[in-house]
Amino acid sequence: MGKLAVNGGEKTCDYQWPGWPVWGDEEREGLNGVLESGQWWYGEKVREFEAKFAEFQGAAFGVTSSSGTTALEVALLALGVGAGDEVIVPPYTFIATASAALRLDAIPVFADIQPHTLCIDPDDVERRITDRTKAIIPVHLAGYVADMDRLNEIAARRGLFVVEDACHAWGSEWKGKGVGALGRCGVFSFQVSKNITSGEGGIILTDDETIADTCRSQTNCGRAKDGAWYSHLLAGSNLRITEFQAAILLAQLTRLESQTLKRQASGEILNDGLRSIPGITVIENDPRITRRGYHLYPFRLDTAGFGVSKERFVEALQAEGVPTLQGYTTPLYTNPVFRTNTETPESCPPSCPYHGRKIDYNSVHCPVCEQVCGDTCWLPQSVLLADEPAIRSIVDAVRKIVENVEELR
Ligand SMILES: Cc1ncc(COP(=O)(O)O)c(C=O)c1O
Repeated sequence: MGKLAVNGGEKTCDYQWPGWPVWGDEEREGLNGVLESGQWWYGEKVREFEAKFAEFQGAAFGVTSSSGTTALEVALLALGVGAGDEVIVPPYTFIATASAALRLDAIPVFADIQPHTLCIDPDDVERRITDRTKAIIPVHLAGYVADMDRLNEIAARRGLFVVEDACHAWGSEWKGKGVGALGRCGVFSFQVSKNITSGEGGIILTDDETIADTCRSQTNCGRAKDGAWYSHLLAGSNLRITEFQAAILLAQLTRLESQTLKRQASGEILNDGLRSIPGITVIENDPRITRRGYHLYPFRLDTAGFGVSKERFVEALQAEGVPTLQGYTTPLYTNPVFRTNTETPESCPPSCPYHGRKIDYNSVHCPVCEQVCGDTCWLPQSVLLADEPAIRSIVDAVRKIVENVEELR
């Protein structure tokens, strides 16, 4: 029997970790109110939530959509991204960041991430720009904010749009301004694992009224603002959310501020505790991130130094009672959607006839992302809502594993 719980030793953390989603009377009353009003369809509550969430992030306009995925698609559509255009995205993200481009027959072009932020590397973005590039989608990964000063400067100089994928970053701020209000538009998800949720849902934020109107039309069957009911301006879709979802989101929004502060405090305790453990690297704050709305808590492992894989380390942490996640284990471009499509030359994308250039995703390599996929694990956001002793016990568990790492080899 070893010291580590995975080898039969005593478990470090014996806590009942907070569950997710968190809900209470606010949601119950909101839902009942909508039910009994008979006004179930896309009305007052949706508009109220859109205005309140836009204000929370500091943007002028908000347009809800059925998910973060469709919100990204709508944002790109509203900016005129289409067949053959190139959109620069990071490979350390959820598929929606890149598939939003694919769905419009645009071409995702991968730029590597930075090892110390896990967000897109502006230098690599600059290297990937061509005469076909139309937009950059930085992902504010785990609530960390990508370098928006550099990205906005590059975009302005090269005539590109920045669409923030803020689907991990409710409450995050860059130099005092909310994410989603920093680029031309920003997109959030309200899927069930997210820090504010209605099961499914999303929103596009922007300061540009014309873009907001186009997004509204795209999500509402192509109707024009103040237009006749059966008058359709463009080929939109039905991506509306219901009053029930909006009622839940309004209730969730009342807790978002305090939960964001709580997660941030937990993140700082973890940063302080973990950075002193040999072989552990935390994602240090950039002072321009004036608020870090942690969705996940990622940290890196010196897997080579430990002589142990990330999978094995995570297994050991889970046995110590820490609900740890592997996170992304491979860069996005290794997915079959990129690899197999290259064999169908007329498919659009990735070998789009409008693009006229063949992209072979088999030859794409983003070395930092590949390294990060092998050495970075995550704690889920709900864990960051635990009491301080529980958070400190996570540091104890990691230290115990590092001190006894030879047991895992
Ligand atoms: C970075 C990122 N972008 C976009 C999305 C898509 O959001 P949704 O699940 O609401 O479609 C997600 C969802 O996990 C995400 O993590």
